Amino acid sequence: MISRRRFIQSIAAVALLPKQLLQAKGLLAANVFQVPKLEMGRRVGKEVYFDLNLQSTMSQILPNKRTLTWGINQNFLGVTLRANKGDKVHIKVSNQLNKTSTLHWHGMKLPAKADGGPHQPIEPGKAWLSEFDIIQPAATLWYHSHQIHKTGEQVYNGLAGLFIIDDTESAQLNLPSDYGVDDFPVIIQDREFNSDGSFRYLSGFREKLMGKMGQIILVNGVINPVMKAKKSLIRLRILNGSNARIYQLDFDDARPFHIIASDGGLLEKPVMANSIQLAPAERVEILVDVADGKMPMLRHTEGMTGMMMQQEQGRQPAVDIFQIDASRAERSSRQVPKQLVVHQLDSLKQVEKKRRFDLQMQMGPMLMMNAALGAKDLLKINGQSMDINRIDEVVKAGSVELWQINNTSMMAHPFHIHNVQFKIVNRRGKIEGHELGFKDIVLVNPNESVQVLIRFPKFSDAKIPYMYHCHILEHEDVGMMGQFTVV
Ligand code: C2O
Ligand code: CU
Ligand code: CU
Repeated sequence: MISRRRFIQSIAAVALLPKQLLQAKGLLAANVFQVPKLEMGRRVGKEVYFDLNLQSTMSQILPNKRTLTWGINQNFLGVTLRANKGDKVHIKVSNQLNKTSTLHWHGMKLPAKADGGPHQPIEPGKAWLSEFDIIQPAATLWYHSHQIHKTGEQVYNGLAGLFIIDDTESAQLNLPSDYGVDDFPVIIQDREFNSDGSFRYLSGFREKLMGKMGQIILVNGVINPVMKAKKSLIRLRILNGSNARIYQLDFDDARPFHIIASDGGLLEKPVMANSIQLAPAERVEILVDVADGKMPMLRHTEGMTGMMMQQEQGRQPAVDIFQIDASRAERSSRQVPKQLVVHQLDSLKQVEKKRRFDLQMQMGPMLMMNAALGAKDLLKINGQSMDINRIDEVVKAGSVELWQINNTSMMAHPFHIHNVQFKIVNRRGKIEGHELGFKDIVLVNPNESVQVLIRFPKFSDAKIPYMYHCHILEHEDVGMMGQFTVV
């Protein structure tokens, strides 16, 4: 038998490079904080038309090296889409890559045929039209490739961007909302590079099993950038766009900040915190007060991130992500509201159906050998791995359900459900911070059981399914995913 200790050693996360090493390697040259281009579409009343191109090119990420990157209307990563609740969007996605791909609107409530999952592939040279009404409140959503068995690689190459929804309620709150001025996207991703500058994706079974992690952190595609703050109150829309790494974020001066939004939009009230855990695909919006004119560094501390090795290996030193230079920040006229929005809550009494999902990972002596052989059924949900021709669950449109997700494995899995924003109603620890809000993804720790309350939107389609899956993209790609229809 593989011992627990050996297993834990074998899955220990790939350490990130500390500042000193980055400096020594010439990677820390005070890079400028990049803001992805804003794309508001072509508007005719409430109809909004977007034209997106999946494209690839050589980009400069490392000094003196070129990296082949994929992007959406830009070289690396995607432009930020922005539209309002109540709009109808028409998004034409043209695939100019030489690989089949998809674009999925993560966190969006929408008809299954517009979802952009594995059932809406776009072949090279072809285009796909996704049309839907935006029926949900202001939020920071995102979009990314969902190509079956290839999501990890395609997102790693750069097929990911933000989708911001605005609404009139949030506009009245006097929150920082000037894109690129006091309201910033912060897409955090870790990457590994080959010596020629190209991205290094999977290089062994261990990475396939544990998820791909890299030693270098990028923010909006840039290594350790510095943001020159123009205002004293800054809103950060943080997306963990990494394939597998879970971040524990804080500032180096331990300054407190206000959490104002989770995956699905604004919380009821701002929550003061000085540290946040963010699993892959999770978003959080925070307000940071930099009126002191200092230079706080956002950092990540490995070690308390969901694995059972916490006690065994302890926490590692913090690694820098990006810095805010507030030395020239002007006084902001925006402020932290006392109250944000009121959530419409469903009660447990309304639950019409309970479902249970067991997240399973093969253990024992055969694990590493099977992983080395590329066995596809190492990671399962309810004893099965994804089959695109099998519908696992059928849900009634408009109904309320309670899903219980049990993690029976030794590592944490971020569980995501398409087409919904749910509330976490039960988990081992306290439900606090951004987990108080609406969520489309929840990190389920080893041996933990989490219950989420879901009201399904009224869209129905007997044929085309939505997905639920682990958002460690390598797990999704080997089949830790299932399908449900809503009828
Ligand atoms: Cu973020 Cu099924 O996706
Ligand atoms: Cu999704
Ligand atoms: Cu997983």
